[in-house]
Amino acid sequence: MEKTIKSVQDLYDMLDADFRSAKQFWEPFYENRDRPIPFFPNKPDENLVADVEAGRLKGGRALELGCGPGRNALYLAGHGYQVDAYDLSETAIAWAKERAAEEQLDVHFECRSVFELAPEQEYDIVYDSGCLHHLLPHQRIPYIEMIHRALKPGGLFGMTCFAPGFGGQGGPEHVMNDWEVYREKTMRGGLAFTEEKLRYLLEEPFECVELRPMKAMGQEDPYFGLPILWVTLWRKPEERD
Ligand SMILES: C[S@@+](CC[C@H](N)C(=O)[O-])C[C@H]1O[C@@H](n2cnc3c(N)ncnc32)[C@H](O)[C@@H]1O
Repeated sequence: MEKTIKSVQDLYDMLDADFRSAKQFWEPFYENRDRPIPFFPNKPDENLVADVEAGRLKGGRALELGCGPGRNALYLAGHGYQVDAYDLSETAIAWAKERAAEEQLDVHFECRSVFELAPEQEYDIVYDSGCLHHLLPHQRIPYIEMIHRALKPGGLFGMTCFAPGFGGQGGPEHVMNDWEVYREKTMRGGLAFTEEKLRYLLEEPFECVELRPMKAMGQEDPYFGLPILWVTLWRKPEERD
């Protein structure tokens, strides 16, 4: 029955209704590939490369959430991972598939919302570069639960998101508290997180492996890095008897 709240999903739907549709925003975002968007060049995140080179990421199955045109999924596929990668934007997924064909890499790219996925203990790593900070606060609840279920025990969750203090440099100046988002009916282009807020949201159910500012990388560098972002890596604890 329309506009009747019986389930948690009905409540989520009501909260979503006050905001622009993510699909409508992201679909045209990738139409012009020549725009100077920092994450359009086909370079992996510097932290992902560092984790592979340090032997923290050893191969296996990877899930990338909000993969855009696939730069990190492709890097993982070239470094020992069988990769499933999803994004809301058909245009981004078409671009990612072209890149995979050019690089002769086999990645399962698919246009789907992360909220349609229900993997069960399948992945060694789940990776999110810049997706969570575009989700509404209530959407984090099913999102983090899904990631936790998706990982094998001992599996890793890597995530980059906005840090505060970078207004005018492509990032948010301030951290909005979650209630403000609903009062103002906007995320002002993406939410920034303090270290304390990230730990509060993720230390249960995960263990923190790494949390640091991303290293700055220039246009000539082979990797992507912007200090407006946090780099974070979390482990799903091993099951205990
Ligand atoms: C800032 S972009 C980052 C893209 C890519 N991870 C990268 O770093 O190159 C965020 C991406 O998240 C995707 N996204 C946002 N909400 C999503 C959802 N509910 N399901 C799947 N993808 C989503 C957008 O379409 C967009 O491509």
